[in-house]
Amino acid sequence: MAFRSRITGTGSHLPEKILSNAELAKTVDTTDEWIVERTGIRQRHIAREGETTAILAYQAGEKALEAAGIEASELDLVIVATTTPDNTFPSTATKVQAMLGMDSGAAFDVQAVCSGFIYALSIADNFVRAGQAKNILVIGAEVFSRILDWEDRTTCVLFGDGAGAVVLQAEECEEGDKIGILSTHLHSDGKLRDLLYTDGGPGTNSTVGHVRMLGREVFRHAVTNLASVVVEALEANNLEKSDIDWLVPHQANKRILDSTAKKLGMNPDQVVITVDRHANTSAASVPLALDTAVRDGRIQKGQLVLMEAMGGGLTWGAALVRW
Ligand code: ACO
Repeated sequence: MAFRSRITGTGSHLPEKILSNAELAKTVDTTDEWIVERTGIRQRHIAREGETTAILAYQAGEKALEAAGIEASELDLVIVATTTPDNTFPSTATKVQAMLGMDSGAAFDVQAVCSGFIYALSIADNFVRAGQAKNILVIGAEVFSRILDWEDRTTCVLFGDGAGAVVLQAEECEEGDKIGILSTHLHSDGKLRDLLYTDGGPGTNSTVGHVRMLGREVFRHAVTNLASVVVEALEANNLEKSDIDWLVPHQANKRILDSTAKKLGMNPDQVVITVDRHANTSAASVPLALDTAVRDGRIQKGQLVLMEAMGGGLTWGAALVRW
């Protein structure tokens, strides 16, 4: 007997306030044309004052629980992937745990920037495989708008706020059964941490700092690393590129998405794209895109779904799921 994780519910939440490229161009030296052409982004959601990562995470988590048809009291674990926690400590996950009214289980945050959700999903899947948890809420949530330098046009146009969540449930099966999360693959290369970082934090000064990025270099590594981790995930499961039904990629830049899809020989219609409406929501982007494609009926039971992401660190990873 073995345990495998199934994603039994998804949910997401976006702040009400929308900031279009045209509005942004009133205060930043940029244009709608430049942003759309270089990134595919048309707008982003921005959290209002007081709207924190925990609040967005809780809303997304509630919807995922409702979709899965389970109560928060049945959860063994809450994992929140975020780079923009409400406080340095305690973890945002413990805040979400309290908001959900849970008085048992455990909660913790995961920090892998834009790859955070894939990292959190991998950790959750391993808890299930080890038989240590049956029901897990995995959330990716960010208020990236709070760590942007709104005078730096090379970064501030790229990001947005939001949250996405999934409920993972353990299913008992035979060893070797190919169900639910088939495998997860994580990587990082800390030598490349200066390509994308914040110039703040307890180790540097007393502010949270702002995002700094060498965009071209990040772009180059994203294209190479994402293609290689996708091949790794397929080979680990003896699957072919043509077996993938849906690619749910981290939504950083439409040009990165197009290039990954091309390398996989996939039809553009098989790639779930939300970057035009959400921009890059870091750890929230994959579960936000996943929830969109589940709720609009694109992702169906039995299909093969490939999620992948890359972010600061550099970190990158993939998860292959038989839905
Ligand atoms: N509006 C107008 N002009 C701009 C803007 C802007 N917002 N930003 C930069 N420019 C200018 C630059 O100053 C430069 O002008 P110059 O030629 O006179 O010097 C010109 O546009 C070209 O700048 P580049 O940085 O070379 O533009 P590039 O084509 O590389 O696009 C971008 C920049 C969109 C950031 C791209 O490199 C990219 O997407 N990189 C990936 C980074 C990313 O997505 N990071 C997110 C986190 S990591 C991840 O999620 C994968």
